[in-house]
Amino acid sequence: MEFLTLNTGIQIPYVGSGTNTFGKVNQQYDGEINDDTSELMSAIGVGYRHFDTAISYRNERVVGLAIKQSELPREDFFITSKIPGRPEFISSEKAVIDAVESTLTALDSSYVDLYLIHHPWPNLEEMVLVWKILEKFVDEGKIKALGVSNFNEKQLMYLIDHSRIKPAVNQVESNPGNWNHEIIEFSLKNQVIPEAWGPLKKVNETTRATLTEIGEKYDKSWAQVLLRYQIERNVIVIPKSHNSKRQKENLALFDFSLSNEERATIGKL
Ligand SMILES: NC(=O)c1ccc[n+]([C@@H]2O[C@H](COP(=O)([O-])OP(=O)(O)OC[C@H]3O[C@@H](n4cnc5c(N)ncnc54)[C@H](OP(=O)(O)O)[C@@H]3O)[C@@H](O)[C@H]2O)c1
Repeated sequence: MEFLTLNTGIQIPYVGSGTNTFGKVNQQYDGEINDDTSELMSAIGVGYRHFDTAISYRNERVVGLAIKQSELPREDFFITSKIPGRPEFISSEKAVIDAVESTLTALDSSYVDLYLIHHPWPNLEEMVLVWKILEKFVDEGKIKALGVSNFNEKQLMYLIDHSRIKPAVNQVESNPGNWNHEIIEFSLKNQVIPEAWGPLKKVNETTRATLTEIGEKYDKSWAQVLLRYQIERNVIVIPKSHNSKRQKENLALFDFSLSNEERATIGKL
């Protein structure tokens, strides 16, 4: 695995596993939590050490369980979680503190590697107040790095201008047809590492055919070409698969490089 260094100095693996349907009945986002760690254990087995969870996914506990079951040291893992931008989690200092503590309890860990504000909300001043509470958790070593998700340029810049600890990450949707090129470039320019969520989503037949053709030259699949495109422009990827073979495939990205021409083609898909 290769790593990128965040503006805090800590390293993040380029590839992590999404988890939003893991540990749930029928692998449905809204499914009941069943504490099934099989998808996570299979991911750990093929080499994942970076997982993306969230309070909203309700499965932080399942991620914590899998870490324990792996019998690997906690420090081997990079775990991201997220505080929802909804009133019940952000409307008071106590609400924010309770949210972070609930994450640590669910993960059964004394710290979380990266904590994101899941979605922005219109009141930017209030957002800064929430951020200041999160900064205290960084001071205490309970959060190693802070970041945001789904922030536009204005929201990101406001936070950069009004924070003591700058956001390290901006996790945004990025896939063909919805690359979000502008916010990704803006984040990079401001030393905020972009992460692509849904990196394999919404790929239609025509796009898949183009990516498959590019991949043939390297003996790689359309999905590997897409993920490689993102990491070559310093975007972290968090693909999710319930299938062990595809989990493994999504990690095998470091033995080929795309040409400038191929990158240009992919960026316009
Ligand atoms: N911050 C946010 O607001 C936000 C929003 C959405 C998601 N996320 C995070 O981002 C993660 C990833 O996004 P996502 O889960 O929505 O979508 P995704 O990872 O882009 O795509 C998942 C789909 O792709 C399939 N797939 C995976 N690897 C494949 C491969 N090599 N070849 C062909 N198909 C493949 C999976 O099917 P199989 O299971 O059958 O392989 C699944 O149907 C989430 O799990 C979550 O952690 C964050």
